[in-house]
Amino acid sequence: MEVKTKSLLDNMIGVGDMVLLEPLSEDSFIENLRKRFDHNEIYTYIGSVVISVNPYKSMLIYTPEKVEEYRNRNFYELSPHIYALADEAYRSLRDQDKDQCILITGESGAGKTEASKLVMSYVAAVCGKGQEVNKVKEQLLQSNPVLEAFGNAKTVRNDNSSRFGKYMDIEFDFKGDPLGGVISNYLLEKSRVVKQPRGERNFHIFYQLLSGASDDTLKKLKLDRDFSKYNYLSLDSAVVNGLDDAANFRTVRNAMQIVGFMEDEVQSVLELVAAVLKLGNIEFKPESRCNGTDESRVKDKNDLKEMCELLGIEQSVLERAFSYRTVEAKMEKVSTTLNVAQAYYARDALAKNLYSRLFSWIVTRINESIKAQAKTRHKVMGVLDIYGFEIFEDNSFEQFIINYCNEKLQQIFIELTLREEQEEYIREGIEWTNIEYFNNAIICDLIENHQNGILAMLDEECLRPGTVTDETFLDKLNTVCAEHQHFESRLNKNSKFLNDHSLPHCCFRIQHYAGKVLYRVEGFVDKNNDLLYRDLSQAMYKANHTLIKHLFPEGNPAKVNLKRPPTAGFQFKASVGTLMRNLQTKNPNYIRCIKPNDKKAPHIFTESLVCHQVRYLGLMENVRVRRAGYAFRQAYEPCLERYKMLCKRTWPHWRGPAREGVEVLMADLQVPAEEFSYGRSKIFIRNPRTLFFLEERRRQCLQDLATLIQKIYRGWKCRTHFLLLKKSQIVVAAWYRRYAQQKKYQKIKSATTVVQSYTRGWQARKLLRELKHQKRCEEAATTIAAYWHGTQARMELRRLKQEVRNKHAVTVIWAYWQGTKVRREYRKFFRANAGKKIYDFTIQRIMQKYFQGLKKTLPSMSPIDKNWPARPYIFLDGVHMELRRIFHLWRCKKYRSQFTDEKKAVYEEKLEASELFKDKKALYASSVSQPFKGDYLEISKNPKYQKLNSSVDEKVLLADVVNKINRANGKGTTRILLLTKKNVVLADQKTGQVKANVALPDLTSVSVSTQNDGFFALRLKEGSASAVKGDFLLSSEHLIETITKLHHIGSTASDGEQLNVDISDEFLVQFKHDKVCVKFIQGAPKNGNSVSCKRKNNRLLEVSVPASA
Ligand SMILES: Nc1ncnc2c1ncn2[C@@H]1O[C@H](COP(=O)(O)OP(=O)(O)OP(=O)(O)O)[C@@H](O)[C@H]1O
Ligand SMILES: [Mg+2]
Repeated sequence: MEVKTKSLLDNMIGVGDMVLLEPLSEDSFIENLRKRFDHNEIYTYIGSVVISVNPYKSMLIYTPEKVEEYRNRNFYELSPHIYALADEAYRSLRDQDKDQCILITGESGAGKTEASKLVMSYVAAVCGKGQEVNKVKEQLLQSNPVLEAFGNAKTVRNDNSSRFGKYMDIEFDFKGDPLGGVISNYLLEKSRVVKQPRGERNFHIFYQLLSGASDDTLKKLKLDRDFSKYNYLSLDSAVVNGLDDAANFRTVRNAMQIVGFMEDEVQSVLELVAAVLKLGNIEFKPESRCNGTDESRVKDKNDLKEMCELLGIEQSVLERAFSYRTVEAKMEKVSTTLNVAQAYYARDALAKNLYSRLFSWIVTRINESIKAQAKTRHKVMGVLDIYGFEIFEDNSFEQFIINYCNEKLQQIFIELTLREEQEEYIREGIEWTNIEYFNNAIICDLIENHQNGILAMLDEECLRPGTVTDETFLDKLNTVCAEHQHFESRLNKNSKFLNDHSLPHCCFRIQHYAGKVLYRVEGFVDKNNDLLYRDLSQAMYKANHTLIKHLFPEGNPAKVNLKRPPTAGFQFKASVGTLMRNLQTKNPNYIRCIKPNDKKAPHIFTESLVCHQVRYLGLMENVRVRRAGYAFRQAYEPCLERYKMLCKRTWPHWRGPAREGVEVLMADLQVPAEEFSYGRSKIFIRNPRTLFFLEERRRQCLQDLATLIQKIYRGWKCRTHFLLLKKSQIVVAAWYRRYAQQKKYQKIKSATTVVQSYTRGWQARKLLRELKHQKRCEEAATTIAAYWHGTQARMELRRLKQEVRNKHAVTVIWAYWQGTKVRREYRKFFRANAGKKIYDFTIQRIMQKYFQGLKKTLPSMSPIDKNWPARPYIFLDGVHMELRRIFHLWRCKKYRSQFTDEKKAVYEEKLEASELFKDKKALYASSVSQPFKGDYLEISKNPKYQKLNSSVDEKVLLADVVNKINRANGKGTTRILLLTKKNVVLADQKTGQVKANVALPDLTSVSVSTQNDGFFALRLKEGSASAVKGDFLLSSEHLIETITKLHHIGSTASDGEQLNVDISDEFLVQFKHDKVCVKFIQGAPKNGNSVSCKRKNNRLLEVSVPASA
């Protein structure tokens, strides 16, 4: 491990610790500070006290690297830094379990608030990490911007002056991780809300809100961005150089969110801030009453109205509260009017109260958030950042209170560093020459003495009946404090001030430890009373706004308290008293802040100003005491406990008294005798270096000890581990052996079983063989016996069977014999009757069977079905055929009964055709399957034949194309043939012109061949009108139909003359005057399938018809 040899003394500019300053004088002290300040060394020690000179510029000495550098290092090891003090305090809190407090003092603008933030950020950086811890740290750090926005303001001394006192306890757990914190605030300078001295501003939040809030937010808050619109905001210094109010507003809002403010809480807070601004704009005018007194009235009610809307207050209630005042005494209520001045007073009192109560609520709310959750015991580090000592041109009650607080802090500093130190030397019997120092206890007494202190006088005046004014208070002081050497007043009986013109009549002066301050008594009584008219607090309580209602609990009519509240001075004194008691229980760490110039500028070191501060802070005395005394002291027991490892005789245990042990230790370490002294209960070490020496030796020794402990621990660990392994090995081995033996035993056992089973098998097989042999022998004997018995039995059986057969033969022969005898005897009776009966019965049975069989095998109902079951007996032949006929007729009848009239007509025609042509003309067979369509030309529908159709009167029964055979050459010409009930018409196919119209009665007969052709001749009555040109020889594709129809018309005509149909292959046709024979011959195959007609000679026309297939 690297040994750190760096020291405070290395590369030192001037002297880092004033204790080492040579020669020691005020000049050298200030010169040392200046020299260091010029070299950017703003921190200097006086022993363990840190002097911090405000650099007024940002320095690169607060980086994370610096934090690491100072972390866990001894105080004097590195050059002076606030981090060294923070580290020292944090480590003694964490390691030695001592509660700490960090007291930061100095005048306004000296850098106290900055120093407190640096301490907090250092502690946050070095303490534990983790999600929860980081959240706590973040909340603690972010409470600062919130409090600064509401509690800080620009003053002539400081652009970010704390106008309240703050003491923050940070709580840690045993590991040094932060758990939470508690903030106490002290007396906010609330008079600033309504009035600011020249060159100063109101609290930051007002300016931040107006500059940084969005237009929307401002609209909601009924605010205007222009500062000049608000009476409570001073305008001459509204804008501060280097202060970005808008950006700060965003920071504050963000910080509020981190700290844990709800969105509606932030909104309520901003509403209250806006209400204060609005309140400042309310103005009053006098209104004369009939009794001659003046009464105040609100001038322009707009601001009042807006404010009431913001806070949810009824306007009339607040308006009345500004005009009247109700005084309650002994169950009596008296209402008096307020004049304009009183109304303004009431308005300002309300604004001040509203703001200061809001501020206290914010602190309480932050405390709620940062409160430590764990109930375990915790260590505390308190950081005190209180308003610095201040002297203004015009000092009032606030400055008096602030300076009183600083007096108290100085007192505690003196108590703990100077007086206690000296007293301790005396107590411990250490040789010591007394050092003179100024003890400010006398000033504290002047202010806080219970009987005749200034605060007691003020309270007395405030509570006294009768007319009380600031002047009566001053008179009282003049009488009571006249003799006090630190009290000065013009009206004092002390004659030396009578002609002191620097001391006005309305003032008194106190000679504080830090200088003389002139206080103007005006307002002391009022501010101490801090009264708010009850009407106003009641008006506020009536507000429909949760936060404001909460801030004015005394306004609740149910809780009217006629007792006066404690005065401001009294409260402050009490809280300062509590703070002082609290600080005394903790280990103090001091940071003394010094302001180098009045210009808030860097690089300027005004010696007179610094000298003044050095004096009143008592720093010289501090150094002197430190130098004359001893840097370090410790009780013998803890000292021996801490360093006993440095000497063999004291390590590890010293049995005798602790002091002797320390003596032995120091002797053994050969520390020079002048470096330390033995007190009664403590050892005093003169020089820090001796302490460093001891610490360094201890650190080395601790390293050795750690190595030793490590060695022993490792040995123990290895041994334990080895023993454990050994023990385990035995257990493992035992288990393994057991397992191996089990395995071996199992193997032997199974081998034995195998051998045994083989042996047993062999024995069993041997036995089986023997038994089988024995059994086979037995079976053989049995078989032989069986065969023998069988043979015997069969022989017996054969014999018995033979016997039975013989018996049966005898019986049969006997029966036959008997039968023959009986038949011979009864033959004559049997034949006469039985034969006929048997015959009838047999026939009846056969008929029954025949009919039943026929019923099952009947053919289908189709009339053309030729099937009929076969005849079973020849004698049934006739019956069978008759039944077939009957059945056929019956199914034909059934078939016919389904016909419609048209269908019937068609079939009748077909029937007629069959009667005419069947077996007579070869063409008939092919016509059977063709339906008789009649009108092949669709003459009535076809427009082409419309004319032709109209020329025929009757209904056309047949319309077809036919060939008219030329008589001269036998060639055909196409004609349309129309057949009606009365005529046969031949017409030209193309023109539809009627060529011939033959009345049916003129027809005698029709001739056709027997062959497969469509030729037919229409023979006409000789002498009739149609017969002029002779008969017609035509050929038609529908010959059978045409002739049938012609024949049918003839048979159905009324005159009843039938048309003859001649069917022969040769017939005569009358052509004009000639008779020509038309002869049909079987055509040669070369003519193809077509029918050809040729005129052979005058008398013969030969028609060649191809042989039908
Ligand atoms: N360490 C520092 N580094 C840089 N600037 C500093 C430092 N300390 C203080 N300052 C500057 O000095 C100004 C005043 O410091 P600070 O507000 O801490 O004074 P204060 O002692 O708290 O005064 P008051 O009593 O009025 O509150 C700061 O705003 C800052 O600009
Ligand atoms: Mg401050």
